[in-house]
Amino acid sequence: MSGNTLTDLFEEGLKEMYYVENQLVDVLEELSGEVDHDDIANAFRQHKGETEEHVNRLEEVFDRIGESPERKQVHALDGLVQDHQEFSDDDPEQNVLNLFDMTAAEKSEHLEIAAYGNLTFIADKLGHDEAADLLEANLREEEKALDKLKSLTEGYDVEAVPA
Ligand SMILES: [Fe+2]
Ligand SMILES: [Fe+2]
Repeated sequence: MSGNTLTDLFEEGLKEMYYVENQLVDVLEELSGEVDHDDIANAFRQHKGETEEHVNRLEEVFDRIGESPERKQVHALDGLVQDHQEFSDDDPEQNVLNLFDMTAAEKSEHLEIAAYGNLTFIADKLGHDEAADLLEANLREEEKALDKLKSLTEGYDVEAVPA
């Protein structure tokens, strides 16, 4: 990967998101089993299903541009996963863990939204119209997932959380 062209940048970004989405399928499964709040667990589980579809759409994007799907490690996501591990290893109070997990999930949505916004823009510039539509479909679902998580966070019964 030389990184000299818009196509290089596009393919690099696709590989990064293929890594991110595949990791997030497992992460969302883990988070849904870790929280003890039905609405939050359901939100994680629902977005896990959407995330599996994001993987499928990315495979379709690779196919449209004549490349086979590849993953490229994203340290920012690995860092979020590691931060979560360290926090949960310290045996936090369950309500605190619920809130931590929602914040962590929101951070990953922000990462995805930034990446898909840029990839959609570049696909469009390169004339990959179908790829741009697929990437935009993922983007819209990330935005909806973020809104859902934000409303769950804002509606959380903080009286239950130790001050
Ligand atoms: Fe996603
Ligand atoms: Fe997402």
